[in-house]
Amino acid sequence: MSEQPETSSRFETLAIHAGYEPDPTTGAVIPPIYATSTYKQDGVGGLRNGYEYSRSGNPTRAALEGALAAVEGGAAGFAFASGLAAEDTLIRSLLAPGDHLVIPDDAYGGTFRLVDKVARPWGVEHSAAPVHDTDAVAAVVRPGETRLVWAETPTNPLLNVADIAALAEVAHAAGALLVVDNTFASPYLQQPLALGADVVVHSTTKYVGGHSDVVGGALVVKDPEVAERIAFHQNSMGAVPGPFDAFLTHRGLKTLPVRMDRHCDNAERVADFLSSHPAVGEVIYPGLESHPGHEVARRQMRRFGGMVSFRVTGGREAALRLCERTRVFTLGESLGGVESLVEHPGLMTHASVAGTDLEVPDDLVRLSVGIEHADDLVADLEQALA
Ligand SMILES: Cc1ncc(COP(=O)(O)O)c(C=O)c1O
Repeated sequence: MSEQPETSSRFETLAIHAGYEPDPTTGAVIPPIYATSTYKQDGVGGLRNGYEYSRSGNPTRAALEGALAAVEGGAAGFAFASGLAAEDTLIRSLLAPGDHLVIPDDAYGGTFRLVDKVARPWGVEHSAAPVHDTDAVAAVVRPGETRLVWAETPTNPLLNVADIAALAEVAHAAGALLVVDNTFASPYLQQPLALGADVVVHSTTKYVGGHSDVVGGALVVKDPEVAERIAFHQNSMGAVPGPFDAFLTHRGLKTLPVRMDRHCDNAERVADFLSSHPAVGEVIYPGLESHPGHEVARRQMRRFGGMVSFRVTGGREAALRLCERTRVFTLGESLGGVESLVEHPGLMTHASVAGTDLEVPDDLVRLSVGIEHADDLVADLEQALA
C-alpha cells in the first residue's frame, strides 16, 4: 500500500513522477529493483521506512502502487501478481459467505469463472446483468445483501459501455460498493473513481504494462477503510508481484498516455475500414456513432480505446480462417500491448463461458489494435478478409 503522492495533477506528469522520489542514497531516477525478501532492522522492531518483509512491502512495488493510486485519483493503490489475484483479494476482502454480488453478463471469462467456480462454492451468490442497462442491474440488486456491483466498461469482448455514474447511484442506494474493471479503457481514458465508483480493478498485464512482457493486477480505492481491509488481505493472502514485475509494470505506466493515443488513432482507422467491408457484418467499437453506448462513452471516456470487435458474415469458419490468415496481427490471447493481436473469443479467451448465458457469438473476432503503422494494419486485414 502506498499513499497518493503530491505532484502535478496532470495525467502525463503523474504517470512519470508519482509514487517515487529519486533515491536519496544514489539519486537513481528510476525505482531500483529491490530484489530482497527481507530488511535489516535497526534493533528489534526498528524498521526502516516500515520495510520488514517483501510480501508485506517492497520499495519497487510501493513506487508502482503510489503511481497507480495517483493516476486513478484514489487514496491507495495495491499491486498483485495478476488481474485475477487482484480480483480474488478484493472479493475475499469485501465479501463473506451469504453475501451477493452483481457481475456483467458479458464479463471477462476468467472473472466469471472466479465468481462462479471459486467464490460461489465458498458461499457468495451472484447475479449476471447487462451492465450497459442500468435498470437491468437495479432489478437484480438485493438491498442489504448485495455488497458489490461489478462493472467492466467497455466490456470484454462485446465492448458494451456501462454508465459508471448511474451504476454508482444504484449500488450506493442499495448499500453496495461499485467496482469498475478499468482494464480496457486504462486510467488515461477513463477515471471511474471520479465518476462515483469505489474500487478500480486492473489487469495491468494489458495497457498499463503495455508491452506483453509481464502479468500483473491492481486495485485502487477511494475510501481509507476499504484500503485498510485490502491492505490486510494483500498481506494475508500474499498474491503480490515480485520486484521485477513491479518494475516492468511501472515502466509501462510511464508511457501509457502516448501509447494510448496511438492505440486510439489506429483503432479508429481499423473500425472505419471494417465498417465498409462487405465480409464484415457488424463492427463493435464505442467510437462509432452506431454503437449503442457511444453517447455514454463520449461523456465518461477521453477517447474510445484500442479494442475493436466485429462479426464476419461468413460465420464461425470465416472467423477462424481470418484469425489464421493475418500476418501483422498476431493470433493470441491478451490485449493492450504495442503489437496488434487477433483472437476468436468463443474458442479462446471466452471458452470457459461456452454453454452459459455469457457465451459469445461464434462469428465474433476481437482485435487488440497495436501501435504499428495504421496502413500496415488495414492492409493486413484487407488481405486476410479477401
Ligand atoms: C477485463 C479483464 N479483467 C481481468 C483480467 C484478468 O487479468 P490477468 O490475466 O492479469 O489475471 C483480464 C484478462 O484478460 C481482462 O481482460
